[in-house]
Amino acid sequence: MLQLMKVKYFLFDTNGMSDIQSLEGTARPFEPTPAARSWASTMRPVEAEVYPLFVERWSPRAFDSEPVAPETLRTLFEAARWAPSSANEQPWLFVYADTPESRAQILPAILPMNRTWAERAPVLVFLFARKKFAQPGPFQGHPNPTALFDAGAAWMSLAAQAHLVGLSTHAMGGIDRNEAFRLLGVSPEDYDALIAIAIGHRAAPSTLPEPLASREVPSARRPLAEIVVRGPIGPRK
Ligand SMILES: Cc1cc2nc3c(=O)[nH]c(=O)nc-3n(C[C@H](O)[C@H](O)[C@H](O)COP(=O)(O)O)c2cc1C
Repeated sequence: MLQLMKVKYFLFDTNGMSDIQSLEGTARPFEPTPAARSWASTMRPVEAEVYPLFVERWSPRAFDSEPVAPETLRTLFEAARWAPSSANEQPWLFVYADTPESRAQILPAILPMNRTWAERAPVLVFLFARKKFAQPGPFQGHPNPTALFDAGAAWMSLAAQAHLVGLSTHAMGGIDRNEAFRLLGVSPEDYDALIAIAIGHRAAPSTLPEPLASREVPSARRPLAEIVVRGPIGPRK
């Protein structure tokens, strides 16, 4: 069983970087509830001990309509903001809708196969990645070959933070990209449209119609031996 880690928290004053304090603390957010721990170990057996977050997070389609508090939603984007990126370019752009009116406006940019369930989620987000480096420096104006990779890291940070505050997320590549650019007013010259993300509180599978209800189970993964190779690389089976 994972030991709780002793960590140092660095507290910043609200104006910036001055006056850093450090405290000894316990990483409480990583401590799973007993129910979550037994769920994770029975549904998703692990090959090595990891923080439960990594195996407990999954992508449901059953969302209830309970709104997400703006201050909670802000913590998800804050987590994404701190993702690493090439040259610290931070090429991601999140555009979100959290009212019935704004969600209805952007729903046509989600393909029908996803719209059927995603329309119940209280928050819908579109993630874009800026194609060229914009930060001043030697790369400015040049294509950014890792923009999509960096935006992927930011999405995962958002998903992890959501899980830690009791919310669920579901990424959707099944979007109409032309509609996303048009409805959200983002320039296809400057950005790639990557995914939509449904965010909210998970609901019971029975709230979904079939066949979606039966698919409402956490997925498995390929074994470690298939995805990790200890070098040097030789012929693979
Ligand atoms: C980039 C990306 C695109 C995805 N697109 C869709 C989608 O269009 N529709 C859908 O139902 N799920 C979609 N998913 C969810 C994946 O199917 C899911 O993450 C995967 O099966 C692993 O399951 P888990 O997230 O529950 O662990 C997408 C996930 C990612 C990361």
